[in-house]
Amino acid sequence: MRMYDIIEKKRDGKELTQEEIEYFIKGYCEDSIPDYQASALLMAIFLKGMNENETAILTQAMANSGDMIDLSEIDGVKVDKHSTGGVGDKTTLILAPICAACGIPVAKMSGRGLGHTGGTIDKLESIPGFKTSLTNDEFIKNVKEIGLAVVGQTGNLAPADKKLYALRDVTATVDNISLIASSIMSKKIASGADCIVLDVKVGSGAFMKTIEQSVELAKLMVKTGNLNNRKTVAVVTDMDIPLGNSIGNSLEVIEAIEILKGRGPEDLKELSLELAARMLQVSGAGDINTCIKLAQKALDNGSALEKLRYMIDRQGGNSHVIDDYKLFGSSNEVCECVSCEDGYIDGIRADALGVASMVLGAGRETKDSHIDYCAGIILNKKRGMEVKKGETIATLYSSSIKKIEEAKKIVKNSVTISKKQPEKRPLILSNVD
Ligand code: URA
Repeated sequence: MRMYDIIEKKRDGKELTQEEIEYFIKGYCEDSIPDYQASALLMAIFLKGMNENETAILTQAMANSGDMIDLSEIDGVKVDKHSTGGVGDKTTLILAPICAACGIPVAKMSGRGLGHTGGTIDKLESIPGFKTSLTNDEFIKNVKEIGLAVVGQTGNLAPADKKLYALRDVTATVDNISLIASSIMSKKIASGADCIVLDVKVGSGAFMKTIEQSVELAKLMVKTGNLNNRKTVAVVTDMDIPLGNSIGNSLEVIEAIEILKGRGPEDLKELSLELAARMLQVSGAGDINTCIKLAQKALDNGSALEKLRYMIDRQGGNSHVIDDYKLFGSSNEVCECVSCEDGYIDGIRADALGVASMVLGAGRETKDSHIDYCAGIILNKKRGMEVKKGETIATLYSSSIKKIEEAKKIVKNSVTISKKQPEKRPLILSNVD
């Protein structure tokens, strides 16, 4: 087999075979296929596309390129959830304890934030002492004993994807749904869960800017998961404005705890309950209405909050943070962004708020950037709310006044105010089974 022939075949719009796709992935990982040939094939895929079958084969080949996590020691159906990335999205911190409280084991590998989107692992590391790196035995033991563990991805999870993603990033081949679907699903499949619930975001803060594109991506990922024997469903949700009111690591953990205490913003609660219920449903706990009730009960009776407490304790963190938020520490500099006019909040661009939060110190500009866990933004107003001139729209937190000044400009430019109250927009836009 020759890489030249594989490139030529895809260039001419033909379907690649399993042997050809596996040859490419193996050769690229072993460095016998150079970057220039891999780039040429990626561009041919980008221009000519891949069908569902090719996408499923590529996904499996990338998943098989590294560690395949074995969760068979844990009894029951293991369910994972993945979000395509957003701003203020702390749902994992809420739905993992809810599922565990309902008896569904959650053995979750999560990522770090990069650019304007946050990552669960950075959020958890804002809890003093919390370890996101456990040995495989500790990880399995915790899930068996308390029902949940959330850790960072091992270095050897789908290494083919890591290498190809870096190449896509510099060859203008990121935005192709087969390549996105196989990249995301290869890591999920290698992570070992039996069922996967996907939260595919749409809007200013998301990869996909239109509902049509997001539904297409969601359908392809669902098909890819199912063809790889993982029961997969997807929910398409709005990420035009940030989710919840808090952006930034410890601020988001606090907001998640508030939801688990029966308080907190409605949009965050709605999406967390929906995703938790979908996870319960795919694991066989009943129909969607039954599962919503089960999830709600775990919130109402405090059992989900207790699961979070156990998880923090087990992973070395100080679980007293749940009762005393001061233990997270605080920012030296606090600044309020106020409205210049009367009206209604019409829009708050999620991508811009993500960038502002990063500027404040909550995110990384490069992989090695240092994170300020207390930095971030609290939105005092959300879309549709009335605002008076001089009233606070957002509160910014940072260790540096210079960063606050820079972020304040971004926040001001990201908010639009209109004289008319905008129509309410749904958060959950589509379900793909
Ligand atoms: N996230 C991934 O992991 N891969 C992509 O291709 C896009 C988003």
